[in-house]
Formats: sequence, C-alpha cells, structure tokens
Amino acid sequence: MTDSSSDRAARLAHLRREGLEKGDPVPLPLTMAAMFHLPGDPAGVSQYGRFANPTWDGVEKLLGHLEDAPALAFPSGMAAISAVLFSLLKTGERVLLPADGYYTVRVLAERFLAPMGIGFDTRPTAGFLDGGFDGYRLVFIETPANPGLDLCDIAAVAARARAAGALVVADNTTMTPYGQRPLDLGVDVVVAADTKAPNGHSDALFGHVASRNETIVASVRDWRKLAGGIPGPFEAWLVHRGLETLEVRFERMCNSAELIATRLREHPRVRALRYPGLKDDPGHALAARQMQRFGFLIGLTLASAEEAETFIERCTLIQPATSFGGVHTSAERRARWGDAVDPGFVRLSVGCEPTEELWKAIAAALAA
Ligand SMILES: Cc1ncc(COP(=O)(O)O)c(C=O)c1O
Repeated sequence: MTDSSSDRAARLAHLRREGLEKGDPVPLPLTMAAMFHLPGDPAGVSQYGRFANPTWDGVEKLLGHLEDAPALAFPSGMAAISAVLFSLLKTGERVLLPADGYYTVRVLAERFLAPMGIGFDTRPTAGFLDGGFDGYRLVFIETPANPGLDLCDIAAVAARARAAGALVVADNTTMTPYGQRPLDLGVDVVVAADTKAPNGHSDALFGHVASRNETIVASVRDWRKLAGGIPGPFEAWLVHRGLETLEVRFERMCNSAELIATRLREHPRVRALRYPGLKDDPGHALAARQMQRFGFLIGLTLASAEEAETFIERCTLIQPATSFGGVHTSAERRARWGDAVDPGFVRLSVGCEPTEELWKAIAAALAA
C-alpha cells in the first residue's frame, strides 16, 4: 500500500464527520424514499427518488474520495458501463473493446450499439497498443482483463488514444482504487462493478462511474436521471458499509493471493498459472509499474475440465460461484460460459480466510 492509499484509507472512515450536527447518527442512515418534503422552490434539496437520494450521496462521497474524482452510483457494473457508452457515443462513431475482457460488454455492443450505427472492434488486451487508435471515439480497456489476466499499459493507451481524439474508459473492477488508479494514469473515465470487492459480501449488485471531466460527469448523471437506471438506497447503504472495510479486506486478499500463487506455481497438478505478481508472469513488469498491488484473482489451469470441476467442488474453502471479490474465496471454470480459455482454466478469487488455512484446503483439494 502506498502512502497516499494509506492516507486515503485512514480518512475514509471519518468523511461523514465533517457534515454531522450534534446528535446525528455516526453511521450513514438508510433513506428509503421516493418522495421528499418539497414545498415551494424545489432547488437545492432532494426532490424525487430518481434524481437524488441521501444514501447515494453517502456512497458517492466514499467512491469519490477513493477515486479522487466525482463518482456516480449505478445499480450494477453493467449499468455503469451502459451509462458511459449510451451517454457519450452517437451514431457513426466507433468503439474499441478488449477481446478478452468481461464478455457482456461485447455482447452489449453487438446487440445494442451496432444496430444504432455505433460500430465496434475488439483487440487482445496484451497487444492493445498494436494498431493505434485512429478512427475511434471511445477506447475501452480492462486490465488485468477478466478472466485471462492479461495487462495493457494504461498510461500509454491513454496518451495515444487521447492524441488520436478518443475518450479512454478503464474498467477497474479487478483491482479497485486501492490496487490501481487509472485516472491518475491519464484515462478519462473509470467504471467498476462494486458488486465485487468494494461491496465484498456478495449480497448486492452495484457499480460506479468516476471522471475528472465535468462534462462527462454531467452527461452520465443526466443519463441516469432520464433513463432511470438508478441504484436502490439499500444497496447503496450496503456498499457504503462494504467500502469502509475495503482496504483491510483487499490487503488480506492480495497478500494471500501473492503467497498462494507462488505455491500453486510449484504444484505438480497445475499446468499453467497467471498472476501478475509472479516474476515470470508476462504482465509482471508492467504490473509492477502501474499497479499498487497485484490483486486477488489467480488463473490456474488444470489438466482437464473434469479435473478443474472436481478441484472446485472438493475444496472446502472455495465457494463454487460466478462473480469474485467476496470475503469468501470462490472459483469457477470460465470455459463453462464460453470464455476463450483452456477448458481446465479456473479463475480463483482469493477471499479473506486466514491464509494458511486456505492454502491447506486448496492443497488438500489438489491432492485428492
Ligand atoms: C470486469 C467486470 N466488469 C463489469 C462487470 C459487470 O458487473 P455487474 O455484474 O455488477 O453488472 C463484471 C461482472 O462480473 C466484471 O467482471
């Protein structure tokens, strides 16, 4: 953890204090309201539940603090991504997407952007700079890409794509603002699924958009208000609570992942291993330059689909589930969704269990 992330983490839990009146609750209240008391001039206060909500304000304050940029809350990661794409693009423009990032973004482009006359191309994350960025209005990156964990150079993509006239959007879901800071590296917009580590308890879907460009923030905010894809106050409250412990959970998860990746790499049953923290990982040098931590996701390849399924099923401390970033370690064989990975490839999301206990359970399942 860098000094600035430690400082950010330390102040996060006390942000609410600035606005408290004597007798106010210290924790963020949950405001379930579609209607607000609104006589006369409606300016300057919460007006209607689709426009604003004090619990969103609370979670957006924490997200904005973590991103060091205004942040807007959304009901899921995909809602955040859609808001950016649909509010910033128009017919005739073209988008570049990662070929190996979260697949739903490509499906969205194919099913809904292309029929509106917004064309798209895809490119592998590891070679994202190859081919340049001429002709694109928006360049979308995800690094490390889910699930293969290839990386691209955020600062180089941002500089070159912006020079070519594109807006650059980074999906920072796999890293969180404690692990990687794309806005500091020059991208225009960060999107993230707070469904994952930021909430951390696998009980709510959520997302956010953050940008230091006021015009972009205004446009995305208008999209949310007019299209109506708004987060529920209870989910906002849950994510606010999750964010208060993100730093401590992320630290444990990354520490455990680093150790477990080193041990898995030596394991005779593991055919291939991807973790940006390993010195011989193809992304390691870049990861060491642009990431604060190496993350909690590990990609391990076992001999076959069957072996991978048996490993996941047998491990007593692995939750077989799609999604990642929860307090509980979870895993899945990504080829079951059609991702272009080996049939025996397992995406392992390391959770908050004590590290040695977790390793013992993983080693026992591999030995079985
Ligand atoms: C990298 C990435 N971005 C975005 C999303 C979408 O998030 P949500 O499921 O909250 O819509 C996911 C979901 O897995 C993801 O892995």
